[in-house]
Amino acid sequence: MVSKMSRRKKVMSQLLKILEKRNIIKNVSDMLTEKLGIKDKKEVDTLLHNLTTLDQNFNRKNWNTFKSHVRKIILKTLIIEGVKSLENIDKPEEDIVYAKKNGEVNSGAFGKVLMETKYKGKDTVVKQIKSTQKIDIVLEAIINIFVCAVFRNTEKLQQYISSPDVLTMGMAKSKASVLIVQEKVQNTIPFYNLEARDLKEALSRLCSGLSILQLTYNFAHRDFHGNNVLYNSREKRAYIIDFGNSCFSVPQTDGSIQTVDNRLWNQFKQPYQKKCVNKSIDICTLILALVDNDENYKNKAYEMEQPWIYELARDICKKYYNAFETTNFNAEDKQRFRSMDVNVRNAFNGIYAWGEPIFHPWYCFVLGKIEIDVTPEFVKTYIESAFTANKRRKMNALQLKF
Ligand SMILES: Nc1ncnc2c1ncn2[C@@H]1O[C@H](COP(=O)(O)OP(=O)(O)O)[C@@H](O)[C@H]1O
Ligand SMILES: [Mg+2]
Repeated sequence: MVSKMSRRKKVMSQLLKILEKRNIIKNVSDMLTEKLGIKDKKEVDTLLHNLTTLDQNFNRKNWNTFKSHVRKIILKTLIIEGVKSLENIDKPEEDIVYAKKNGEVNSGAFGKVLMETKYKGKDTVVKQIKSTQKIDIVLEAIINIFVCAVFRNTEKLQQYISSPDVLTMGMAKSKASVLIVQEKVQNTIPFYNLEARDLKEALSRLCSGLSILQLTYNFAHRDFHGNNVLYNSREKRAYIIDFGNSCFSVPQTDGSIQTVDNRLWNQFKQPYQKKCVNKSIDICTLILALVDNDENYKNKAYEMEQPWIYELARDICKKYYNAFETTNFNAEDKQRFRSMDVNVRNAFNGIYAWGEPIFHPWYCFVLGKIEIDVTPEFVKTYIESAFTANKRRKMNALQLKF
């Protein structure tokens, strides 16, 4: 009886089966074969088996099995062909990406992003990462594919939130790097660059989407700054990109899908990172990033225009300071916190150091153990009340005039 029960529980709690059952992805195996650029279908089936095992139990043994299999998988070779112009390029080749010569390139922490490329006639971006980090980029692509499918095939979510899909991936001809070919998000502005007047609406739409996503899936982005969330004001939709630190699963399983040891945390030393159940970390990171005074941002003028977001940031920090006192950190957590503290103090002259009214969003990387009540749902309500208060103030001012 017991074994029958546990067997049934095991069958029920499979992420990939749940995605298929909900019609999020019709056939996970076919979809990943195409999008990951893996030639041998048998390899995809083993990959899916290992993912499922890891998602059920995120332990070292399952991680090592997963890792050694991914190392052996042969990805297709993708050729990047330089062209003078991308106009009229609509060739359907599986293995060629066209890149505009001297086109825009974004350099990230771990590689480059070629912004002006085309694949099978579609505008794309190509994320290029050293092949020594193949495991990280394969997991980033898998999470991107799953989250994008969830966004696009969940009716309640589509209106609020989306992400660019992965079209394919592969190994560069030189074998020095692995490439992700991703749809290019058009007509959007990064949250960092939004005009003050658009910020409330953008955050509110983002929070509506995030809260539904968190309710149904265990998802945390874990690098949620204002260049990784973009906003299309015509569609009123937020686009999330860059899933390199993300974690994805369903509440029904005990593990998750994510890479291990991204230099900020290691799941076997910080076990609370094994499952993405923290519902406040992403939105708090974003709010702190938006008020952070570094070169990306607009400083005092912004504070005058949008006092509510500074109030919210100060409240978030107070809540973290209180929770910090009662959280049981292990020696490894404490060590990582101390070195982040040194980094922030050096980088920002102490202005955004721990203990200040507003601390720097980088601290969020080492605070994943703390969950506070500032969730997307909370922020949405906060914005709505700030909006109403503002409107009331304006109405009163008008009434005074007449
Ligand atoms: N699919 C996309 N569509 C449009 N712009 C993108 C896309 N992917 C990346 N970018 C741009 O390139 C930048 C870096 O890409 P990202 O995936 O965040 O890489 P990194 O891991 O280096 O931060 C982003 O902040 C964004 O400006
Ligand atoms: Mg990024």
